[in-house]
Amino acid sequence: MTTRASAERDGDVSIRPAERVDLLAVVRIENASFSQPWPYEAFEGFLGEPGFLVAHNDDEIAGYVVADATQQFGRRLGHVKDIAVHPDRREAGVGSALLSRTLAVLAAQGSGTVKLEVRHSNDGAKRLYRQFGFEPLRRVPGYYDDGEDAIVMIRKLE
Ligand SMILES: CC(C)(COP(=O)(O)OP(=O)(O)OC[C@H]1O[C@@H](n2cnc3c(N)ncnc32)[C@H](O)[C@@H]1OP(=O)(O)O)[C@@H](O)C(=O)NCCC(=O)NCCS
Repeated sequence: MTTRASAERDGDVSIRPAERVDLLAVVRIENASFSQPWPYEAFEGFLGEPGFLVAHNDDEIAGYVVADATQQFGRRLGHVKDIAVHPDRREAGVGSALLSRTLAVLAAQGSGTVKLEVRHSNDGAKRLYRQFGFEPLRRVPGYYDDGEDAIVMIRKLE
């Protein structure tokens, strides 16, 4: 029998492209997750982007990811720009489910490499990214408005 706990480890969520109706819930999770949250308009600008995904159970949004791909030196570079899970739903596989799906989207769009930035102090997120094969590339001093350094992490998809 599958226990609730093991179902949660598999994410226990469905994942689909974000829609306008999701934006208020997304912004609420963003505000609960970051000291410098993105405003509503930033998420609105990514509607229709294949890498903007939400994890949900029926009408309840558990988390989201925003990723896109740009052309750099003749190659497509994927960029995971934002990911967060509702504080009550963390450490149950939702972030992994979102990251897994968005990497598949970026690969399908032809990205050979994916990058992201993470706060130097964000050990939980760094551990998640390492589990997905991301390696630290460089440290960017003072990347965040409060002066904290970012670690740029990358992973190849090919
Ligand atoms: C980072 C975040 C998205 C992870 O989402 P999540 O649903 O909790 O992640 P998962 O349950 O899929 O965890 C996957 C792995 O990440 C790591 N991890 C996640 N949260 C962790 C924590 N608090 N402490 C240590 N490791 C953690 C673990 O390695 C975990 O694997 P394990 O359970 O087998 O040990 C979530 O904690 C979050 O929303 N944080 C606030 C926003 C944020 O920091 N976003 C990242 C910005 S770069």
